Amino acid sequence: DTLIKVQRYLERFHLTREKLQEVSERLRKDLIRGLGKHSHHKAPVKMLPTFVRATPDGTEKGDFLALDLGGTNFRVLHVRVMEEQQRVLKMDSQICAIPKEMMQGTGEQLFDHIAACLYDFLLSHNLERETLPLGFTFSFPCEQKEIDKSILIRWTKGFNCSGVEGEDVVKLLKEAIRRRGDYDIGSVAMVNDTVGTMMSCGFRDQSCEIGMIIGTGTNACYMEEMKNVKRVEGEAGRMCINTEWGGFGDDGSLRDIQTEFDVVVDEMSINPGVHTFEKMISGMYLGEIVRLLLVRLTEDGLLFGGRTSKALLTPEAFETKFISEIEEQDNGLENTQKVLSKFGLKWDTVDSCVVRLVCDAISSRSARLCGAALATLANRIRVNRRQERLKTTVGVDGTVYKKHPNFSEELRATVRLLAPKCDITFLVSEDGSGKGAAMVTAVAQRLARQSR
Ligand code: BG6
Ligand code: GLC
Repeated sequence: DTLIKVQRYLERFHLTREKLQEVSERLRKDLIRGLGKHSHHKAPVKMLPTFVRATPDGTEKGDFLALDLGGTNFRVLHVRVMEEQQRVLKMDSQICAIPKEMMQGTGEQLFDHIAACLYDFLLSHNLERETLPLGFTFSFPCEQKEIDKSILIRWTKGFNCSGVEGEDVVKLLKEAIRRRGDYDIGSVAMVNDTVGTMMSCGFRDQSCEIGMIIGTGTNACYMEEMKNVKRVEGEAGRMCINTEWGGFGDDGSLRDIQTEFDVVVDEMSINPGVHTFEKMISGMYLGEIVRLLLVRLTEDGLLFGGRTSKALLTPEAFETKFISEIEEQDNGLENTQKVLSKFGLKWDTVDSCVVRLVCDAISSRSARLCGAALATLANRIRVNRRQERLKTTVGVDGTVYKKHPNFSEELRATVRLLAPKCDITFLVSEDGSGKGAAMVTAVAQRLARQSR
């Protein structure tokens, strides 16, 4: 009886094959809308040109610095690209914490902090007197004018620093370095984390033409035909497009699949109405959806004998990593009970089974929505190239994809269902997208060398 009532709640998170197909079709239309010449200011899916025109060919080389900002960790890296062995070596990297207040303080504070972290890194590696080129992975939607000119459209995820939206991020970084005056950097290449991921996987597998992130946020990029990229001159060849698919649904197009819990998550976020699709999928929000659902089920008397706890009633207290632990095949039940006890809840065996069902419903929906979106991109590439079958590789990163026990399996199954004519290989990015940012810089240098 309890289970039937619980199921009634969870049904709202179940998307049928037909529904997923509809979602994929809507996204297909939004991709086209976003690629249009002037529509991008209003288009929910922004389809941003990245000025990355070529994936690696294996002859790149050199030493680079990289910054990686916007995921769980802010990192500074020293990267060496080696031609002979076709390898990108991460010489060293350092995580540098960004205090939560700083994520919502002034832009100047943020960039001063970034410049200071970079200096500490250079100093401890005896690199402060060199002027190395720098790849900057900046995982937010930017209108890119050139590879080294990138204007922040808006913050997403947990960031909201003043004075940065509408500004050139490269300029802000360079100004912060100049304010210090104790070191310098060479040419800068700006990339989104999806692009960095595609490029770092692309060095290992040259058919890697899609980059996808399912972590704090979610997004993907892919290689589009230049003739379809209306905002950049030229018809020949291809360019990588940062889709910013997290914004899918911002015009209300996903209202039919949003539940009341999704609506609350959106309303309570620092950016209501922005990144609707992302809020149904990514790590920053999944735990909170689960928490809201658990609270409701408890209030309806379907869990914990109808008694909530202070911890359960605390916004954002239920971390997305708990979902992964709870759904673990072997230790899942045990993990569930640990989490529930930690939350000060009185549970029995039925409760822990229900909690697992709830987590499964939320993470499955996330995986299947991502699968539908990835299928849309793969189908588009196949049709673009007029191929009967497409064989391609997707570079993937992000804690949700990497840590959840069956997320990747469900995602794959959905892609097979919705893009049956595409054979997709998934490559997990191992050392983060900072390496990819260095690759972008390296590819740009190779192209310059070859055109000389
Ligand atoms: C990292 C990449 O490995 O994954 C980052 O280097 C990216 O560029 C991040 O933003 C995404 O995952 P998460 O879970 O840290 O947001
Ligand atoms: C958010 C950002 C996007 C980034 C994604 C994954 O959606 O807007 O630029 O790629 O998170 O980190």
